[in-house]
Amino acid sequence: MAIVSLRLNKNEEKILKFLTDYFEEDKSTLIKEIVKEKYEDIIDRKYIAAFEAREDKGDVQFFTAKEIKKNATKQFYDLTAEETAEKWYNNPVLMPTIQEFVSLLNENPRVLDLGCGTGHDCMRLSSLGAEVVGIDFSAECIKIARERCKAAHFEVIDFFELDDRFGLFDGVIAYASLIHVAPSGLPTILGKVANIIRDGGFFEVIMKNGTGIKEITSTVKGIELTRTAYLYNRSNLVSHFSSSGFLFFRKGYLDKSLVEKDWRCYIFRKRK
Ligand SMILES: C[S@@+](CC[C@H](N)C(=O)[O-])C[C@H]1O[C@@H](n2cnc3c(N)ncnc32)[C@H](O)[C@@H]1O
Repeated sequence: MAIVSLRLNKNEEKILKFLTDYFEEDKSTLIKEIVKEKYEDIIDRKYIAAFEAREDKGDVQFFTAKEIKKNATKQFYDLTAEETAEKWYNNPVLMPTIQEFVSLLNENPRVLDLGCGTGHDCMRLSSLGAEVVGIDFSAECIKIARERCKAAHFEVIDFFELDDRFGLFDGVIAYASLIHVAPSGLPTILGKVANIIRDGGFFEVIMKNGTGIKEITSTVKGIELTRTAYLYNRSNLVSHFSSSGFLFFRKGYLDKSLVEKDWRCYIFRKRK
């Protein structure tokens, strides 16, 4: 242990008194903290210099808070892809919903599954005679979808990058996937769907009922991930969809067990 004696002039003594009163600490603790802060400053400067050198080399990427949230959501679906497939390939709870939707379409319809996950709904759509394309931003989900549902075509695509590469569809489904899209992003995506669905075509969505945002945190394989879900009620959705050229057609069938968990199913129709 070292003992240091200090000689302070009047002004320095006044400042020290002010600081001890302000922080409610004794002189010795305060001076020790200041010494530590000075040292940490030097360490910080080293990190900043190293970071700036990487920045100069173009080695650094910046993410907005929105992008960080989106990446956490994507990582959650990547890390849970296997258990999702195990659960949903064996769970037929959505089959009546899918059957009802297909019955609205012409024979052997072309259907797009937006946010198809591991392709379990695509498998059911295909079994009913539909020609199916599934898209999802989770590469792990799409890998499993390709392995487990050979009848459909799958691509890793973010909703915001959806284009007309697959041609026109008779129907589009988005089951529990648009819940990850904020109201500010919804018009862009609905506009993109409107461009690739034929006039009079049907668009069925399953959403979580409510308003506002729900942050869901779970620890997956030792990593704590927070995914963001946006809640929509029927009138919010009807207003978003009608601004993008869709009319509310009716509620879609949904098993009671899902309705009890606040899931809702709505069918929209593209204006002719
Ligand atoms: C709750 S899961 C639903 C999966 C499947 N539709 C189902 O009913 O089981 C939501 C899916 O949406 C996908 N997703 C979320 N945001 C997306 C985005 N911006 N672009 C593409 N896929 C997205 C996720 O990767 C995930 O597979």
